[in-house]
Amino acid sequence: MHDFYRVIGNPVGHSKSPAIHAAFARQLGIELEYATCLAPLDGFAGTVAALAAAGCKGANVTVPFKIAAFDLCTRLTARAQAAGAVNTLSFDGAAIAGDNTDGAGLVADIVGNAGVTIAGKRVLLVGAGGAARGAILPLLEQGPAALTLVNRTAASAHAVAAQFDFPIAVRQFEALDGPFDIVINATSASLTGALPPLPAAVFGAGTLALDMMYGAAPTPFMAFATGHGASARDGLGMLVEQAAEAFHVWRGVRPATAAVLAQLRAGA
Ligand code: ATR
Repeated sequence: MHDFYRVIGNPVGHSKSPAIHAAFARQLGIELEYATCLAPLDGFAGTVAALAAAGCKGANVTVPFKIAAFDLCTRLTARAQAAGAVNTLSFDGAAIAGDNTDGAGLVADIVGNAGVTIAGKRVLLVGAGGAARGAILPLLEQGPAALTLVNRTAASAHAVAAQFDFPIAVRQFEALDGPFDIVINATSASLTGALPPLPAAVFGAGTLALDMMYGAAPTPFMAFATGHGASARDGLGMLVEQAAEAFHVWRGVRPATAAVLAQLRAGA
């Protein structure tokens, strides 16, 4: 039997991860199986225990279980600890190792795919939920000149910023000026077609605006950013890059991502 992996979520039927991991495995000549796994909303721990008992080697974790996964792990990487959430599980006997590859995927997409360095740049991170928190340590490791955090609920942004040993500036939306070099939308606003109340001044001709979400059409955030001169990216590159990082965690080899991303963009 081939090594097998899962992506656990609810819902999870829409996940692109099986296609991405199948493409990585083909590219590297590795035989493995990767499929979706729907866990009951109140049954994540039981689902994980059953997978581990059946010999599953590892699993990705998606909405809404990333914090439950964090709580279940017997070992955590520094980046998972900083994120407070886990998207990559590795099973080894009774041990469950937890990692978080989302922030590394974000950085790889910005630096590797968009060709934009983060070092020395002014970065604005919008949101203070799990997605934003997971991005902070990998962003800081790149050495930005400044990291500004803005969130609808200011108290959450202050609480997140206080967890890092770096002076993160917390601002209110209406107090933001700019332009910033990089603006990252880590809110879930795009899921409901909403736009965080960003002033247009945060964007300029040299700004890279990245939405962690993706869909058939540009998100409202991307449309607003390009309308004010910025270049915009969706979250598809980040999705492929976080998967490549998870593949590396499990198999010790890093797949090439460009062709896989191009295939997804082409709707293949
Ligand atoms: P995730 O795991 O995707 O980060 P989350 O932890 O529920 O999800 O966090 C959602 C984030 O999106 C929060 O920062 C939330 O702002 P609040 O802390 O004020 O709730 C933000 N968000 C969601 N909808 C939004 C909207 N319409 N406008 C602005 N921010 C929004």
